Amino acid sequence: MTTTASHVAPGIDRIATTVEIGGFGQLAVNAFVLHGAEPVLVEAGTVVDRDDFMTALRTVTDPGELRWLWLSHTDPDHIGSIPQLLDEAPRLRVITTFFGMGILNLVTPLPPDRVNFVNPGERITLGNRTLTCIRPPAYDNPVSTGFHDDRTGVLFSSDCFGALLPELPDRADTLDANTLREGQVRWATIDSPWLQTVDTDRYAAVLDRIRRIEPTMILSSHLPPAPGNMVDFLLGSLAATHNADPFQAPDQHMLETMLAEAAAGPTT
Ligand SMILES: [Fe+2]
Ligand SMILES: [Fe+2]
Repeated sequence: MTTTASHVAPGIDRIATTVEIGGFGQLAVNAFVLHGAEPVLVEAGTVVDRDDFMTALRTVTDPGELRWLWLSHTDPDHIGSIPQLLDEAPRLRVITTFFGMGILNLVTPLPPDRVNFVNPGERITLGNRTLTCIRPPAYDNPVSTGFHDDRTGVLFSSDCFGALLPELPDRADTLDANTLREGQVRWATIDSPWLQTVDTDRYAAVLDRIRRIEPTMILSSHLPPAPGNMVDFLLGSLAATHNADPFQAPDQHMLETMLAEAAAGPTT
């Protein structure tokens, strides 16, 4: 895994970890820093990479000055540095939901007075910006939330719109359209397999609610940054997932083959 920091939009930096998913390509694991009167960190990186995450974070901000952590959900690729952040940033509060806090109580408990609940449809004003909470149209964890930032017009979509890709460019719009569509559909069949069972008309209305936000940029936890003019394409990938082949996970025979190959060492 490698973790780097980069500037992605006015007042927004990305902390990106590249994860190799053996045989399936690369997955971005992104967190974001929203600079402003009350700095916001979106996501807290992976559990196994927490030291590298904090190192990369320090190159774009002083973690001690962070005021908010928007935790979109409680999966291990989003919560890694919570203990360090609570220690280092005495004024930091974690934005999550009732069940988000409940799940974290089993992993890395949050002091309740350092939590702020925000549910889909609600807004929260943090200094010079107001964030409107949304439920992403695809997710792998029912506590998932995303948000629209009124200061930049950017939509933060949690796991939604992620893609498994041969390699990860700096921006999603430099990818070949077929590669991106294939990578997004593959990810959606893995991360949100329930998408393949939904009523397509009712789901079209869900996608339309996202389209009407007219985001200036889409920042997903698992996709390189995408400009707002890609929103129709990204929503189209979710719609296309309905009829895609279901994901077939590697079976025990494949695992044993991989182990045997690893034991035999590299071929020349
Ligand atoms: Fe997730
Ligand atoms: Fe994730």
